[in-house]
Amino acid sequence: MTDASAFTLDRRDLIGIEGLSAPEITGLLDLAEEFVVLNRQIEKKRTTLRGRTQINLFFEASTRTQSSFEIAGKRLGADVMNMSVGNSSVKKGETLIDTAMTLNAMHPDLLVVRHQSSGAVALLARKVDCCVINAGDGAHEHPTQALLDALTIRRNKGPITGLVVAICGDVLHSRVARSNILLLHTLGAQVRVVAPSTLLPAGIQHFPVEVHRSMESGLEGADIVMMLRLQRERMAGSFIPSVKEYFHYYGLDEAKLKRAKPDALVMHPGPMNRGVEIDSAVADGAQSLIREQVEMGVAVRMAVLDALARKLPNA
Ligand code: NCD
Repeated sequence: MTDASAFTLDRRDLIGIEGLSAPEITGLLDLAEEFVVLNRQIEKKRTTLRGRTQINLFFEASTRTQSSFEIAGKRLGADVMNMSVGNSSVKKGETLIDTAMTLNAMHPDLLVVRHQSSGAVALLARKVDCCVINAGDGAHEHPTQALLDALTIRRNKGPITGLVVAICGDVLHSRVARSNILLLHTLGAQVRVVAPSTLLPAGIQHFPVEVHRSMESGLEGADIVMMLRLQRERMAGSFIPSVKEYFHYYGLDEAKLKRAKPDALVMHPGPMNRGVEIDSAVADGAQSLIREQVEMGVAVRMAVLDALARKLPNA
């Protein structure tokens, strides 16, 4: 491990994994390890962000990501405010910029933003003076999810280089898949995506992944099986014949998991649809890392907030 506490990110915002180098990713993960230790202690508070204002601006509903960022900011001593903004799709662009300018006038230091449109967080970042962290934009990126997944993998499997990671399910609508593909590829994993053609993005052949259309071949010899939620709220039209059929072919159950390595581990970013993309026996089974992912989420978000705040004026 490098000297994590001296690590800084050479950027103001974290919009995506795209553009992050392997040493930057590793630096963030090493820093997060320190917060994993802190978070398991009784006294969890630091004063690193004392005097700083963090606003969590969520245009889309979220439970775990928003609470994870809130706990992370509070543990570092920031004043954290949550704003859940109802969405009027007609005025979307206008509302976004107006909201950004209004908040900017209140001098926040850190703005954590989730928005249903890809690119919205980058657009907002150009309008404000503070650090902006993307907490998920449309089907584009969700960088802290990929970082927490990488931390979880590294703690259970050691170095990510050479691991076979199968990302399965609704890749088309998933910002989690996109960020994970970029991160895992940058750290040298062998990434596979496993999905029916209707749930794969156009141009998937240009991503650094192996494409599989059946769970049987996609899971063969995998070290990590990462399941994605079937994002029905993003589907305009019919992408699967029926949930029952989807589970039959693409839902992860114990029989399909047997195709992976005997010590393979199972992940899911949550929220899970039990009986749709994953069977309860697997989700709650001995190979599941799903609860550990949530724990790592807080540590990773503390690392990101801390690293970015080190670049703030007067820091
Ligand atoms: C993911 C998201 O919002 O992109 N969830 C999360 O951040 N925990 C995945 C999902 O919604 O399926």
